[in-house]
This record gives sequence, C-alpha cells and structure tokens, in this order.
Amino acid sequence: MLYVGGKWVEEGEVAVHPEDRGYNFGDGIYEVVRIYKGKMYQWDAHLTRLFRSAREIKMELPWTADELSTLAQQLLEKNNITKDVDATLYLQVSRGISHRVHDIPEKTEPILMAFARPKARPLADMKKGMTAQLIEDIRWLRCDIKTLNLLGAVLVKQYAKDAGAQDSILHRNGIVTECSSANVFAVKNGVLYTHQADNMILHGITRQVVIDLAKENGIPVHEEAFTTDFLKQADEVFLTSTTAEIMPLVSVDGQPVGTGAVGPLSLKLQDLFEQHIN
Ligand code: PDD
Repeated sequence: MLYVGGKWVEEGEVAVHPEDRGYNFGDGIYEVVRIYKGKMYQWDAHLTRLFRSAREIKMELPWTADELSTLAQQLLEKNNITKDVDATLYLQVSRGISHRVHDIPEKTEPILMAFARPKARPLADMKKGMTAQLIEDIRWLRCDIKTLNLLGAVLVKQYAKDAGAQDSILHRNGIVTECSSANVFAVKNGVLYTHQADNMILHGITRQVVIDLAKENGIPVHEEAFTTDFLKQADEVFLTSTTAEIMPLVSVDGQPVGTGAVGPLSLKLQDLFEQHIN
C-alpha cells in the first residue's frame, strides 16, 4: 500500500493530477530512507533534511515530525516490513496542484506520497567494488537541496553507463563534487578526503555517518574539495549513500584505483559501519 495525498491506496489506484507541480516542474523534495531488519535507520536525520529542503524551496510542510514518523511506521506495518526485512522507504512532497505558472502560487497544498519496498543490501558489490567514469557536473548550483528535479543526475549516470562504467564521479572544472546519487571519498596516505558540505553537493546522511565513524576511530578526515588528478592518484576511492552504503570504486576512467582491489581503509570503514547498524 502507498500513501498518496492523505489516502492509503494500492499501486494501480494512484492518479497524478496533470497540473501537479512535482510532475510538471520537479517542484518538490524527497528522501530515501534505509530500513535495516524492519527498523528505520537515521530517520531523524532524514526528517531534518526534509524540513531543510522544504525551507530552502520556500515550501511550508503542513505535517509535524511526529505525524511523519507515525506515517512511516504505518507504511512499514501495512507493507509487512517486519523485523527480518531490509527495505527502503521513499517519501516525496510535491508543492501541490495549480495552474501552470513558473513562480510559486500563493495557495497550494503540498502532496505527500510515500511507499516502502523490500530491498536487499548490495553486499556482493561492496565486496568486489564498482567502476566509475569522471563526468562533468552539469547539475544546478543548489545540489544541497534534495529536489525531485533529477534530470541532471539521470543524464550523468547515463553518460557513465554509455562509457561502460557503473557510476559517474562528477567534477566542475576539474574539482570533484560527488556522484550522481552518492557522495564520494578519496583516501590518500591514510587520510580521508571528501568535498565540504556546501551548495555543490547533497549533504549525505551516510557521508556524515562515515565521517563520524572515521573520527571516532582515529582516521583523519579532511572535508575539502580535491581535483580529478588527486582522485586518480588516490590509494582508495569509495562512494556513500543510503542504498549503496560504503561502495568501493576500484576503477576510474578504465584505470585501476590504487592496487585495483578494495583497499584496507574501505574495508575498515565497512566493518565499522556494519557494527554501527547492528
Ligand atoms: N541518493 N548525493 C546525491 C546527489 C544523492 O542523490 C544522494 C542520495 C547522496 C547520498 O545521500 P544519503 O547518504 O543521505 O543517501 C549524495 C538517494 C539514495 C537516491 O536518490 O536514491
């Protein structure tokens, strides 16, 4: 069952209004939440980011954090996401329905849509690592907002796939930002590097967990921008996201990263993450 605009409905019953601004303009926001063994992971952080995204696009959410938490819990129950099920919960808020004008209409009611689906962890890929291609970051300049407007992300991911890689690492004029739907870290001489949390990247929740775990365990972290050349010379590279967790990238632009195998710091962080979610 899905939750759409205040009602519980089956998938086949969902109808989108032709002038829903989320549908017409990508005018809305979303979150993807991980469910480990039936329990929501980092739910509070997702709520905080959802409310921040709403503020940044001048949208007032008519629900309290408690109401959204109750709804998420009901969604898990109605979809049998019980304590042995790994899943994801998708939640989006469109600005609502109005005649098609570009500026923000005075009166629209935000429309909440949410669903939850079983989803296995990507354990095999996490073990062997994935490949990536450097692609120019063609997205807008407010990548910190988790907006429904994802065409930039769609295209860069496809460019990477067309080049034979599994994911894209994005750069602006040679400065690495993030991946199409994940943050990126480079490791050099035992130090972790990742782009600072500004408007050029999404402030990933997994990114923050990894930074905290690293610091707690004596691994130095530099939140600063680095170049594509630095990335190519890195000992290890990995991406982080709710669904990909800590995903090693063992080849960039067809060249091996470091030794070409999953590196020791990536393995260590995966291990710390495993303890943390259990
Ligand atoms: N993507 N950067 C971008 C551009 C993202 O879309 C995402 C998440 C991340 C990682 O954020 P987090 O650790 O909070 O998941 C970074 C989600 C999973 C998606 O769109 O499917």
